[in-house]
Order: sequence, then structure tokens, then C-alpha cells
Amino acid sequence: MAKLWGGRFSGGPAAALEALNASIGFDWRLAPYDIKASKAHARVLNRAGLLTESELERMLDALDGLAADVAAGDFTGTVADEDVHTALERGLVERLGELGGKLRAGRSRNDQIATDLRLYCRDHARGLAADLTELVKALAGQAERLIEAPAPGMTHLQHAQPITLGHQLLAHAQGFLRDLERLSDWDGRAAVSPLGSGALSGSSLPLDPVAVAAELGFDRPVANSLDGVSDRDFAAELLFVCSMVGVHLSRLGEEVILWSSQEFGWVALDDAFSTGSSIMPQKKNPDVAELARGKSGRLVGNLTGLLVTLKGLPFTYNKDLQEDKEPVFDSLDNLALLLPAVTGMVETMRFDTEVPREAAPKGFSLATEIADWLVRKGVPFRDAHEVAGACVAHCERLGIELHEIDDAGLAAISEHLDPSVKQVLDVDGALAARTTPGSTGPKAVADQLAAVREAVETWVRWSER
Ligand code: ARG
Repeated sequence: MAKLWGGRFSGGPAAALEALNASIGFDWRLAPYDIKASKAHARVLNRAGLLTESELERMLDALDGLAADVAAGDFTGTVADEDVHTALERGLVERLGELGGKLRAGRSRNDQIATDLRLYCRDHARGLAADLTELVKALAGQAERLIEAPAPGMTHLQHAQPITLGHQLLAHAQGFLRDLERLSDWDGRAAVSPLGSGALSGSSLPLDPVAVAAELGFDRPVANSLDGVSDRDFAAELLFVCSMVGVHLSRLGEEVILWSSQEFGWVALDDAFSTGSSIMPQKKNPDVAELARGKSGRLVGNLTGLLVTLKGLPFTYNKDLQEDKEPVFDSLDNLALLLPAVTGMVETMRFDTEVPREAAPKGFSLATEIADWLVRKGVPFRDAHEVAGACVAHCERLGIELHEIDDAGLAAISEHLDPSVKQVLDVDGALAARTTPGSTGPKAVADQLAAVREAVETWVRWSER
């Protein structure tokens, strides 16, 4: 197979170079996008007087035929084709003869690949967004059932203050909602078309980058052709969003792993989303949650890898840039595998609300209530904190809980204390008292849930655009 660049070369490339240089092994999935961009380019060549009407018609027909054959698997790139662009040009020439060779005018693989990858990323960002909305809905569904279910809220993985499980699940949802917002504002920056940049300097042919951009769904063409063929910010930024999603999934995964352990016993995973052991028949393992935690490694790795590839690259195109594709594909592929599984796991897991309810007041998690009670009586928080701390120390000495301190004990700890303090030493009371927006009280959580559901609908609509 003759190379696109064969003109000035005397002999063919060494097999080792060919094997190294080829991207066809991984860029074939860009074929539909490459064809779409080719159709837009053909129309521009026609308007520039470089393709007659009938040539344009034959060209568009052939490109449609090629697209159908690619979709059906009847036309594929081979190892002899260096990359997706070479393979598709071969397909076009096979169909059109000489006319097929006209499409390359005013265009280079450099602006083509930058365009194809942007189109691919923008398309798949919507798929990622759709998967994220499903996960947020699953978290919201669980949260609704657990709006009044108390659990120990933790800092440092130690009991801190009582919270509701609904509140904790929605905390995870908030991160994924931010990821959705990131995708949509990333998309605004990615909506720029490199076609027309040519190899690097633009073109002497009367092309129309604005029309091409519009036809391909971009907002505008690039402002600088050198940037057009060199910029991979859009790929790195998308990999950052994927990494952030991965980090959020890993934190959710870790909590599910903890909650489903015998030591916690807060949640039971559905059989359909758990695995067994080949040797221990009693085992039920949280593999989905572990992969949610584990895959964050490769997601962050893909981002890091691309950033290092880009660092120090001189302008404009360098073959290093061919290394941009696999990390992008890998991150998007892995999230497409992972998110539906995590969503299924979240949807089907069953909480045992009694265990976390009983655990909620343990570890003196209501001590802050004593301090707040004293503050409401005019005691400075600094002193109130001291008194509440003395209550905890008293309980630890006697091996009792805060609500079990007797009247004499209270009086001995501080002149500010009296038995009416015990009214706040109740988990449900402490939760109900938290009424400020964003707090863990059932009313505030219900408001939060409504807002999450409204936000998710916005992102569902965005993902369908
Ligand atoms: N396969 C190449 C890539 O992925 C396409 C661009 C080739 N450009 C070039 N000047 N060799 O980046």
C-alpha cells in the first residue's frame, strides 16, 4: 500500500517503523467522525469551485457508502494503512478512482485528527453525562428512603455527630452533579473546529472554516491554525473530568465497602451486584465497589500520562500527539463499563437502618449538643466546650452514656448544667434541630433532594443534545 507521503521516498518503510508508527490499531473508532468531517470538507471544496456539483454528489454518495460499510464491518482499516485517515482515503479511491484523491486538497491529517478527536470527545461526553445522571438518580432514590435514618456522621472515621443516611448519600450525589457541570462547561471550550488549519498554517485555497465548524456542530473555528493542530487541552481537560469522576466513584466505593463489612453491617449488597469466593462458600464480596475504587488509578494515570506527553512539545504537530488517543478512549471506555455497574449496585443495595441508628449516639456524638445548649443559655462556646468535654470524661470514668449522667453528676460538672439538658441528648431531636439549608435535618435534606432531582433533569436534557 502506497503511503500518503510516498512521493519523495525511494524505498518503503522498515517493518519496525511501520509497526511503531501505525495508529490504525486504536484510531479506527474515529472513522465515523472522520467521514462526517470529510463530507463537510467536500461541500466547502465545492463552494470554492474545486469540486463540480456532480463530483460533490458522487463524493458524498461514496462517503455515505463508506460510512455504511464501516458501520457494518464490511470495510476496515488494515495494518498496511497507517491510520484511520489513510484507510478511509483508500476506501474512497477504491470507490471513486481519481476523484477520491481530490478530497485531500486544503486539508491535512493534522487538522483532521484534531477535529476527529474533538468530535469523538464531545459525543462521548454526552454518553458519560447520561451515565452520571443515572447514578445520581439512584443515589437520590436511596436518599429518599433514608431521609430520616440516623447514622453516626464521621470525621477521621470516628463518630463525630449524628447525621442521616439520606444526607450522606446526597453528599456523594453533589460531587457527581459537579462533574456534570464540569462536562458542560468543558464542552463550551471544546466546541471549536480545527478544520481549515491545514498542516499548520491554514490554506491558500478559499476554504470556509466557519461553515465547516457550523456543519460539524462546533460554535466557531479556531482563532489560530498553529494552535488548531497542536492544542490537546480539550483531551487533557476531559481526562481531568474523568479522573474527578473516578475519584468520586472511589470514595463512594470505599464507603460501600466499609458499610457492607461485617464490622459495620449497615448495608447488604444485592446478589446480582456481589461476587463469591472460589474457596470460601460463605463469601459475598463487593467487587463493584472495589473496582470503583480501583479504576481511579488508571483514570488519574491517563490524565497524568497525557499531560506529560504534552509538556515541552514545540509547536506545531509532532508525532507525540498520536499518544493522545488511547488514554482518552481508555478513560471513557472504563467509565462506560463502571458507571452502570455502580448505579445498579447503589439502586439495589439494602440498608439495615437499625444498626446505624443504634450506632448514631455512640462515641458521645451528642456532646456538641450539650455545648450548643449551653451557648443558647449565654455561656461562651469556649467554656461550653470545656463543660461538654468534662461530661464526656465523667461518662468514660463511669462507663455510661451522656444521657445517663445523674443530676448530682451534672451539678458537680458545672453550675450551668441542669437535668433539662437531657432534652437535647436524643438523636432524633439533634437531627430535627438542624434546620439550616444544607444541614442534615430531615427537612433540609428533603429540600436538598428536591434540588438534586431538579438539577439532574437539566443534565439529562444536556446529555440528549
Ligand atoms: N495518526 C496521526 C495521529 O494520531 C494522525 C496525524 C498524522 N500527522 C502527521 N503529520 N504524521 O496523530
